[in-house]
Order: sequence, then C-alpha cells, then structure tokens
Amino acid sequence: MVVLGLNAFGQNPAAALVVDGKLRAFSHEERFNRLKSSHSLFPSQAASWSLKSQGIDIAEVDKIAINWDCHKYPFTILRNFASIAFKGILGKKPDSGIRSAGDGMGNVIRYINTYRPSNYRSMLYAALRECGCRGPLPEVVYVNHHLCHAYQTYYQSGFDDALVLVADGHGEESCISGYTVRDGKFTRILHYPIPYSLGWFYGGFTAYLGFHANRDEGKLMGLAAYGEAGKDDNPWLKRLDRILKVKRHGFELNPYYFKMGGNYHHARYTDALAKFITDYDADLRPIGLGEKAEVDGKITNRYLLPKYIELAYAAQTRLEEALQALVTNMVGQSGLKKVCLAGGIFMNCKANQVISQMPQIDEVFIHPASSDDGSAIGAAYWVSRQLGADVRDPLRHVQYGAAFGNDEVKQALDICGVEYQALDDPAATTAKLLSQGKILGWFQGGAEMGARALGGRSIIACPTQETIKEQVNSRVKFRENWRPYCPSLPMENRQEYLQSSAHQPFMIRADQATQLLARQAPAIVHIDNSVRPQTVDHEVLPLWHRLICETGKLTDVPVLLNTSFNIRGEPIVNSPYDAIRTFFSTGLDALVMGDFLVLKQGSKRNWQ
Ligand SMILES: [Fe+2]
Repeated sequence: MVVLGLNAFGQNPAAALVVDGKLRAFSHEERFNRLKSSHSLFPSQAASWSLKSQGIDIAEVDKIAINWDCHKYPFTILRNFASIAFKGILGKKPDSGIRSAGDGMGNVIRYINTYRPSNYRSMLYAALRECGCRGPLPEVVYVNHHLCHAYQTYYQSGFDDALVLVADGHGEESCISGYTVRDGKFTRILHYPIPYSLGWFYGGFTAYLGFHANRDEGKLMGLAAYGEAGKDDNPWLKRLDRILKVKRHGFELNPYYFKMGGNYHHARYTDALAKFITDYDADLRPIGLGEKAEVDGKITNRYLLPKYIELAYAAQTRLEEALQALVTNMVGQSGLKKVCLAGGIFMNCKANQVISQMPQIDEVFIHPASSDDGSAIGAAYWVSRQLGADVRDPLRHVQYGAAFGNDEVKQALDICGVEYQALDDPAATTAKLLSQGKILGWFQGGAEMGARALGGRSIIACPTQETIKEQVNSRVKFRENWRPYCPSLPMENRQEYLQSSAHQPFMIRADQATQLLARQAPAIVHIDNSVRPQTVDHEVLPLWHRLICETGKLTDVPVLLNTSFNIRGEPIVNSPYDAIRTFFSTGLDALVMGDFLVLKQGSKRNWQ
C-alpha cells in the first residue's frame, strides 16, 4: 500500500512517501529548487524524488493524502466566519476579538478559493502532469489539518496511550486541538477555534520586532533569552494580560491585535497592537526589516535595544505559560502523562523545554518537523490507517531525504573540477581538522527533514575555542552574532553536560547546560545558560557518533558545534553540487562528503 502525503501550495511544501504504513521518504521542496520556504509552490521535485528513491511509479500510488480538509471550503469556513462577523456586529466591546474577526473576511475569501476541493485537485493534478506523471492519477484524499499534525507526532512517538497537543497558526477551523489517544482512538478534548491562535500571537510579535513571521520565530525566541536577567522589572509581563491572559486551564486571547484585526499595520499585527505598545512607550514603535539603532555607542539592529528585548521576553514567557496551562488542562481531564506535540508552535525549543519539565508529565515527544511540512506525514498515516495499515512508526532519525553514494559525490567533484582526496577514515580525518580549529562542511547520508541539521548536512566546528562562534558567523553563516549555536554530543555524555540528562535526538527542545559544558564549550551555550542539544545514539547514527567521539579524544570535549549546512537566507544544502557551491562561496576550511575530502587550495588560512 503506497500513500503519497503532500503539503502543497502553503508554507514549506513537502512530500512524504508512506509504504505499508511506514515512512520511507520525506523531503522539502526548498531543498531541490533552492528557494527558501518555497511558499505557495507545489512540492513537485520533492514528490518526484520521493517516488523515484523508492522505485515507485505514480501509477503504483494508491492515494494522495492532502494535509487540509478542503471539503471544509467553502461552506463550513464561510459559515463560521460569517457567524463570527455577525456576532461582532452585535458585540459591545470595540476591541472584541469576535467583532474584529469579521475584518479578516477578505483573507478568508482568498483562502476559500484556493482550497475548495475541485480547485485544489485541479492545481494538484496539473502540477503532477508538469512533473511528468502520465496516465490515470491517484485519488486525492483531504485530511483534517490538526489530525494530520496529531497523527504525525503520535504515530512517530512510540507511545501507547497518550495526550496529543496541536498548536499552530490555524487549521480549517481550529487554532489549537488537544486529543487523548487510547487504544488507537483519538478523542478531541480541547479546542480553540479561529481566530484564537497562539501562532498568530507569536507571529505578530515576531513581525513587530522586524523579523519575518512564519520564518523567524526562532529569532524572537533567541532574543527573548537576553531578557531573563531583567525579568523582575519587565513591565510587559503584566501588560500583556490585555492581549493574552493565561488562566489555570487555558487562556483568553484578544485577536484584534493580530491577523484577524482590522486596520492592518502589517499582515501579522494590527495598528491596535502598535497603539497599545506605543501608548505605553512611544520609542517602542514597530521595527522595519533590517532597521538599525545605536546600542552602547554602536550601530546595530534596532531589536537589540533593551526595551524590545523586554517585549520579546514577555511574549515568549506568555506563550510558555499558555501552553503549560493547556497541558495542565489535558492532564487533569485525562490522567494521561505522556504528551505528543506538533504544529508550528512546537518549533519553539524554549517552550518545549518548559513543557518537558512540567512535573505532571512523564514523557514528551516533540516532532522534529512540527510545522506544516511534517503534517504531510500525518496525512499519509491517516489515509494508510483508513486502508488498514499499521501506522505505528517510531522515529529514530530524520535522514529521510535525498541521499548520494560515493559514486555520485565523486562524479559531482569531477564535473566541478574540484581537487579531492579519498579518505580511509572520514571520521578520524575530520576529527583531526576540527581539533586544529577548522570549520567544516559535513555531508553524509540522507538529508534531514525539519529545520535542524543532525549529522547529514551540517557545518561543524570545535566549540572549545573562544572565538569559534564569531568565526562561524563572520565567514561561513553570515548571521547575527547574538544568536546561539547548537551542540551535538554522544548520548552517553548527556548526564555530565545537560541538567535534565534527557536523551534529545532531534534538537527540538532546550536544556540547561551544566557548569562543565558552559566551561568547556562556551560557543554553544546561550546567554541564559540554555542549550539546544542533539544527543547522538551510536546505534542510530554510528558515523556521526564516532566523529564526535574521535574529536573528543583529541580535545577532551566530545561536543561539536553543529549548525545547518547553509548560509543565512538559503535552504540547507541538498545535493553534492549545493555543498560544493556553498563551500566555495563561504569561508569554510574543508568539506567532507561521503569518503572524500576537499580543501581550499591557496587559502590564506592555509593549515597544511
Ligand atoms: Fe499546521
């Protein structure tokens, strides 16, 4: 049984191929077409590659699973929004969320047209024809969006009975859905409808601070950590009650300030939010993309002004509190203590840390591709299960993307006219280079799903050097110096380096560094002493594990600085050609691809 799951025409298009209920291939369209996020596109290359990699023709696909229930469009969606708008007209409070939701009707009409079933299927079939698919095409099945997220995280968690919390921008009608799963039966026990979206809340503040919403939420999270020291005097922690008030078992959100409000100041927040903030402090106006200011006598990004950091800290804290309240609610209702999380909100490592540490919870599984990309997996699981497959499929690694053998790597190097060396032991050679302070590109096995590089397409360095973070920023990644880098370390070393001692294979939740880690590897510890670790199991990723251990033998610190193999604003490299191009357009010292080493001849940093 073959099901092709798709996230198409929206954020981060992706394809997931599920065969007999198990994930066989997954890829993001951006990795192939090199357009970051590839918003609104069809995942044509990702779908073609997924099928080809498994030797499957489109004629052998039983169903195509779509991660949106388009049958909800237009009638159910239109009815809901009309209802909200009508109630708003009758509403008494001028900034009532109910009243303001009606102002978003224009957006709704646009969505309705794109997502109505016949239009969506026509666009999808046309795109498949452009991919070269001939003959009859598989039936298209539309699946409830939040159920897709729920299926992706639950069935890859390995848990039996559990809670599932889904939180993102929005589904067809929902912004938050909570489920119990008992004996494989999903029962919804928690629901926040549109427009009460924590995703829109966080995206609004992301945009307010001059970042790209739906892409740069991680920057807001990273910036918030700088507000930890001044939290006791932060005025916004209380003032944000007007916008998002957290209660013991949930929250009240006034969506008038965000996407569903009127008088757009910005697509993600309204003039009302700007007024609310600047009424208190006129200096805290919305920040334009790339806007600068003077901080401590230096010209730098405006969002680094302490007042904006306070705002970021308050938004992050309020999000964490709201999510904790939801989990408290669900645990209280059900008595279940294992929790699965998915939806774009749960790309937030700090919030995931807070949830993971809640005393009411025994275990947490956070899907590493929690945004809409990964919901393509859930769509395929849902349809596979309808067809009778056992879809329990615990996730051990994320390298389900394009893979290239040594023959293909060598061919790419030859075509590009690049000098290279064949290596007997790539891990040992790479460890030696790392111990010498070099920054390397590391390209091995399949490309990762999700936003993190976990040993397949990584830029790596030894984090013990004081200046290595600045070097990686200034000559390789070209990104902001205040943002943290992540560590990869052997699973067996987690107790000495991580306060929680938890095995965290997907770099999706934060932890606190032990004093030892902060002292030995300062380059990967953030301002608030947090880290976003990957703990590596030698049985799952033997080469990656060995590289870290070999480096540790030379440096006494078995920890790597591990960041994704791309430069700022570009997708992670996918093919050997992408890696070669990125290698030569940055200050990387060396590139290890498969069993081959490429050096930068004539480099001023000649280290031979
Ligand atoms: Fe979603």
